[in-house]
Amino acid sequence: MKSLESKILNEGKVLSETVLKVDSFLNHQIDPKLMRQIGEEFAARFADAGVTKILTLESSGIAPSVMAGLTMNVPVVFARKRKSLTLINDLYSAEVHSFTKKETNEISISSEYINQNDVVLVIDDFLANGQAVLGLMDILKQAGASLAGVGIVIEKGFQDGGKMIREKGIQVESLAIIDSLAEGNVTFRKEGAL
Ligand code: G4P
Ligand code: NA
Ligand code: NA
Repeated sequence: MKSLESKILNEGKVLSETVLKVDSFLNHQIDPKLMRQIGEEFAARFADAGVTKILTLESSGIAPSVMAGLTMNVPVVFARKRKSLTLINDLYSAEVHSFTKKETNEISISSEYINQNDVVLVIDDFLANGQAVLGLMDILKQAGASLAGVGIVIEKGFQDGGKMIREKGIQVESLAIIDSLAEGNVTFRKEGAL
């Protein structure tokens, strides 16, 4: 997606060979117009998937997910990382280990909001090692729901998550795929080359 790639080139900060900071439009400040375009792009790519619900993870997955949900006219559920006072009964939970942050979070959703009739599109802001997506897939399995596919705003193609999830036969649509952050430069994968 060209407008996203331009935004990354103009405003992204390469912190290291593996980490890209995009606080000006995605992870801290949010650019609503870009998010709307992102939502429309996800909606177009999954238009024929019969999606009934979107599932994401707090916090940075929420903005692109809400915009996709608005366009697709489906509700958005976000898994919580902290135990909520009011989120007590009938939880689906999964452990998500972050290799980047070297910590494990338990993520959960109430069983009230996803069931076996749902066809769910999973959306997240970044795809690195894919552990967050695996955790969300685990939750969908517990709910008996089906997975329509995975929509990612920025995939780091030099890490293993995308390959691992695509090898399961799952449709993964990443709106920007970064092949390298070497020498402070962002290099995108050419569209159509996976
Ligand atoms: P994984 O799920 O693909 O295995 O990812 P990983 O553990 O590496 O990511 C942990 C957190 O760091 C996630 O955010 C993820 O979105 C984010 N992340 C991973 N790589 C990058 C990167 O290069 N740049 C940025 N900006 N973020 C990255 P989170 O902890 O869930 O936080 P939140 O932003 O959703 O609140
Ligand atoms: Na995230
Ligand atoms: Na994030």
